[in-house]
Amino acid sequence: MADTDFDFSALETRLGVSRRTFLKFCAGVAASIGLGDRAAYAMAEAVADPKRRPPVIWLHGQECTGPTEALLRSEQPSLAHLILDLISLDYHQTLDAGAGHRVEEIKRQVMKENQGKYLLVVEGAIPLAQNGIFCKIGGQTMTDATREAAKHAAAIVAYGSCASWGGVQSAAPNPTGAVGAPQFLTDKTVVTIPGCPPNPANFIGTVLFFVTYGRLPPIDDKGRPKWAYGRLIHENCYRRPHFDAGRFATEFGDEGHRKGWCLYKLGCKGPETYNNCPSLEYNNIGGGVWPVGVGHPCFGCSEQGTGFHKPLFSLSEVKTHTPPNAFPDIDDREGSSSATLATAAVAGAALGAALGASAVAGRRLGDSDGEG
Ligand code: SF4
Ligand code: F3S
Repeated sequence: MADTDFDFSALETRLGVSRRTFLKFCAGVAASIGLGDRAAYAMAEAVADPKRRPPVIWLHGQECTGPTEALLRSEQPSLAHLILDLISLDYHQTLDAGAGHRVEEIKRQVMKENQGKYLLVVEGAIPLAQNGIFCKIGGQTMTDATREAAKHAAAIVAYGSCASWGGVQSAAPNPTGAVGAPQFLTDKTVVTIPGCPPNPANFIGTVLFFVTYGRLPPIDDKGRPKWAYGRLIHENCYRRPHFDAGRFATEFGDEGHRKGWCLYKLGCKGPETYNNCPSLEYNNIGGGVWPVGVGHPCFGCSEQGTGFHKPLFSLSEVKTHTPPNAFPDIDDREGSSSATLATAAVAGAALGAALGASAVAGRRLGDSDGEG
């Protein structure tokens, strides 16, 4: 990246990360959105200006708090630190130190004083059955709280699969009538960041775009930012050469599984799931930590109609049959790497037993966090 006159020293102190790490992060976000150096600097400058911090009202509906947990568990540069510095988090039902009616009053005051300026983040599904009685906060149903907060919001982000389309709560027979924010707020534009949990980097990229440009990024017909959800997992998966060559694992721990072959026959839903998991991975962007990376089939956690709706073992609908031109050679991964893959197979089986739990063992993005 070319340098500018911008003074990063105050930002370094505030965020507790080096200039180089922060710029690397902004460049990564800008590149993943399809933008260049100039956008990265624009993002850095937007973060540096405290006046551009939008007030945020963050509601929780039916969910496990996984999206907030995923955000808080990230390491260097701390996405949690960054996001909490990038925005003014005025109301968050699980992070607020206060509780009770006083906090609800503050929420209303913030919304009143910032009409048309605050960002509404919805985490969790919204139950519609029996007039919304299955989820109440501060004596108010989630339906009423969402409608009230959405009324004067500058933008609305549904964070996680539950908020995006109902998630696990909406699985048949869906006794509470759970839906996502877009299905409830049908007269509003809702940006969705689905995933169980969603990748925090997709959330922060969306918020960074909003803070920098004052508008939301381009989205698809399900409200998903195109830069993050424009491609099928199957298109970017590093096991894809095995799929095209007909080399499949057929049981957890079998020879194909140990060798890192394609997981399609174990029920992988990568061929029908749009997400950037193979490119971003989890636990701070890198480290091979994502379901397929640790030997477990993708179960389509982010895809409406797939995750929590199709059985794990069922075969996926293959939407792209033609192999892309630019694929690497098949890596048989035998010999010295087989032990690692066997470990990954075990980890994958464990992940299968605990679906929905976060992936394991973080790796720091800033492992070469030297000063620039
Ligand atoms: Fe990767 Fe799954 Fe596609 Fe196989 S079916 S290439 S494991 S996404
Ligand atoms: Fe979810 Fe599949 Fe990615 S299970 S985390 S969409 S690989």
